[in-house]
Amino acid sequence: AKLLLLHGPNLNLLGVREPQIYGSTTLEEINQAARAQCDAAGCEFDCLQSNSEAELVERIHRAFVDKVDFIVINPAAFTHTSVALRDAMAGVAIPFIEVHLSNPHAREPFRHHSYLSDLAQGVICGFGADSYTLALEAALKRL
Ligand code: DQA
Repeated sequence: AKLLLLHGPNLNLLGVREPQIYGSTTLEEINQAARAQCDAAGCEFDCLQSNSEAELVERIHRAFVDKVDFIVINPAAFTHTSVALRDAMAGVAIPFIEVHLSNPHAREPFRHHSYLSDLAQGVICGFGADSYTLALEAALKRL
């Protein structure tokens, strides 16, 4: 089976970016832990962080061609803005879990709406880097 982990804009800054909200774990550390989790389950792993909506949309399209079985995605700010990412996920119809480090529902009102959540198998938020571990665990169980 193949799993793809996608990270949206500004997540390349993890570790230095508002650590009181997002914690001190770096993206590299998150990706390494995710890869180890997939390796242990005998699942193929790939990941991409992009600040570009277009690049993320194109990677999602390629996931369909590559027969990716499951996507774990932190759409970051695009969660709250992107009809294009929503349409891409709906278009490829690959099951996915939406992840957030923080709990957007406990933050500003503009973070309360997600363009992706109603299409997701589930949403995990508020547990910092553990949100990814929990999402990967749920994804791997479903493969
Ligand atoms: C985030 C929450 C979003 O509201 C924010 O724009 C992010 C990160 C999170 O992981 O907590 O960039 O997706």
